Amino acid sequence: MKIDLTVLNKKTLSDLTMVSVQAKHLGLKAYLVGGVVRDMLLGRASSDLDIVVEGNAIELAKAIASCAKAHITVYKQFGTATVVFDNGVIMDFATARSESYLNSGALPIVKPGSIKEDLFRRDFTINALAVALCADNFGELQDFYGAYQDLQRKKISVLHEKSFLDDPTRILRAVRFEARLGFQIEFKTLSLLKKALEAHVEKTVKAPRYFAEFRKFFMEAHPTTGLRRLASLKGMNFIKFGFNPDWRTLSQVEKVLKKLKRDDFYSSKDWSTTFLLAFFSRATLTQISSYAKHFHLTKSELMSLINLPGSKKILKALQTKHLRPSEIYEILDPVDLEIIYFIRATTSVNMVARRLDQFLKKWRMVSLAINGEDLKDLGCKPGRKMGALLHRLLLNKIDGKIKSHRDEIDFAKRFGAVLFKN
Ligand code: CTP
Repeated sequence: MKIDLTVLNKKTLSDLTMVSVQAKHLGLKAYLVGGVVRDMLLGRASSDLDIVVEGNAIELAKAIASCAKAHITVYKQFGTATVVFDNGVIMDFATARSESYLNSGALPIVKPGSIKEDLFRRDFTINALAVALCADNFGELQDFYGAYQDLQRKKISVLHEKSFLDDPTRILRAVRFEARLGFQIEFKTLSLLKKALEAHVEKTVKAPRYFAEFRKFFMEAHPTTGLRRLASLKGMNFIKFGFNPDWRTLSQVEKVLKKLKRDDFYSSKDWSTTFLLAFFSRATLTQISSYAKHFHLTKSELMSLINLPGSKKILKALQTKHLRPSEIYEILDPVDLEIIYFIRATTSVNMVARRLDQFLKKWRMVSLAINGEDLKDLGCKPGRKMGALLHRLLLNKIDGKIKSHRDEIDFAKRFGAVLFKN
């Protein structure tokens, strides 16, 4: 079956054509594989392009990079390379390989292989599709494992019985893809998944690696569906909860974000920490510090979780009537940005939402035209008082009382005279 690659944007299509031409020139066979093929067939957007090569992937990647004058990073020990094109498109190149696992959860033994073998080592049939980029069959779908049928049936199926044992993180991936795509885990796959969970296969994987896969739920547009499903399968026991995840807050975040993402300012933000905070919001500080150690939470995730209880006080302060912009700035300026975003995504109070929007989009960006050097020229001595003067200037600018460079100088002279007299 031929795939209509013209559904991809023109530049991507021309990049893939270049891969095809260069591969032919080098006597190699190249294939577009994985998530991008799945998403293309589902009519969904996908960003990065994964290319698998029967033969030396690095050689092909180098030829492409030189032809397109693109940036290349080579990972010699893995036989892979990443090419970044001018327009930001990223192409990952890997040599087709076969894998065999000695023990559950252990790293596999890897050997060069065919595209068929390479696809067989993958997690689910829907991710085990390839599109040939060879000159003689450009665009031909390579479906060895009934993947196209599973896409049509909306099923998540493993390729073989040992899949979850080989790589327990696939338990999390199955549930995440099910929720993201609105698919169902196929009957036999579900039974294998449940058995794997009962046997606690996740223990064969290092906790931070397992958590890294779990964290991807928070990067989804609608994490709650997947997380609830995982919880219902007892798939979250690895966290050893002493608390109930805060489902209400998670749903609230999803609801608010649906609207917020229509706004350009918010649509480009990564909201995963907001979801993570919502998820762990009922955990105690002792629990958080133990998760941080066990799962290697990032320093900034840990700090935000520690600061989270303070958000209640901030929310209350933001509900005070008649606050000047500078007063709102003073409340929010010292607060961790992730906490501010958390409050924005959880509040249903319009006044608070409006104030947060203005702080994030406007007041936070205000800066002075003059600096300490200018104040020195006006006769102010460097030190605490000068800092206070600059701060006062900024607050007045936020309140709109100071507009021009001239206003700043005038204010500095007037207020500086008072301040430095005492
Ligand atoms: N893969 C796998 N087992 C894993 C992780 C990944 O078999 N534990 C394979 C899958 O075939 C997947 C590919 O590696 O398609 C790339 O992984 P990843 O980028 O995580 O998957 P995508 O399908 O591209 O997912 P996303 O759309 O979330 O980027």
